[in-house]
Amino acid sequence: MCRVEKPLCFITRRLALDPARVLGPGIAVDQHDAETPLPRAELLRRVHDAGALLPILGDRVDAELLDAAPRLRVVANHAVGTDNIDVAACTARGVWVTNTPGVLTESTADLTLALILALARRLREGERLVRSGKWLGWAPTQLLGVELSGKTLGIFGYGRIGRAVARRAEGFGMRVLFSSRGGGVALDELLGESDVISIHAPLTPETRHAFGAQQLLSMRRGALLVNTARGPIVDEAALAAALGSGHLAGAALDVFEHEPSVNPALLGRDDVVLLPHLGSATRETREKMAQLALSQVELVLRGERPTTAVNEVARR
Ligand code: DGY
Repeated sequence: MCRVEKPLCFITRRLALDPARVLGPGIAVDQHDAETPLPRAELLRRVHDAGALLPILGDRVDAELLDAAPRLRVVANHAVGTDNIDVAACTARGVWVTNTPGVLTESTADLTLALILALARRLREGERLVRSGKWLGWAPTQLLGVELSGKTLGIFGYGRIGRAVARRAEGFGMRVLFSSRGGGVALDELLGESDVISIHAPLTPETRHAFGAQQLLSMRRGALLVNTARGPIVDEAALAAALGSGHLAGAALDVFEHEPSVNPALLGRDDVVLLPHLGSATRETREKMAQLALSQVELVLRGERPTTAVNEVARR
């Protein structure tokens, strides 16, 4: 009797839940059960027999990787963004690409508001002052920030997360403008009218460096910039220059141009808040992201159509 081999799913990181809780017994799992990335050569070696790959946003899925994975049928990205994946190359090879839309909207919007408040109320400097032991007590002019109420928030990219940020900002009494592919105001108007700009667009050839020197200097003097979307949308060197000249009053970045590296010109600045890509980092959301990505693996390996596909492939 010939034994039917189980299809293999390769998972490139530890997940917030045990994959066996989602994947049925008919799927074999190989997992790099750690928070650190695999060396590229090992990744290429371990995808060789995989019918499904579950990468995270830091894993580059390109022609080289696809060539190393001749049995691959689905790349189930553990992220809503798919800029780490060469989707066209996957489509050309008949490989589905799926993402995790919807489940990280609220947590990312929460973190965005935390960053806006951290900048507006100078939380980083205040916290540092207390920890330094140099705080001499309350003073009427100490570490004055700005109120959000009555200020204008400009949202660049108005998908699910941009809209969730807008709802929260309205609760703080802010006026909200947005600029996106699908409508809103022109970027120039957004730049010139906003006291705070928050970025929520995907990374595409059109949005790469959408916030370069010219756009940053077109923002209001004293404005604040928040980026929880993708690092390369902001030119970090130009941002450091706009902060250094005093044109911008502060920036909060959860994502970086060359993640996980950060432009050294930003590291020492007190007017910059830096986080290690925590937008979706709540237990609830990370469990839902893992669950959704794994369920796409199951569907494809069972021969069904995935529900969160970002490409269209001929049935195999
Ligand atoms: C995503 O899903 O694209 C986010 O950046 C992860 O937090």
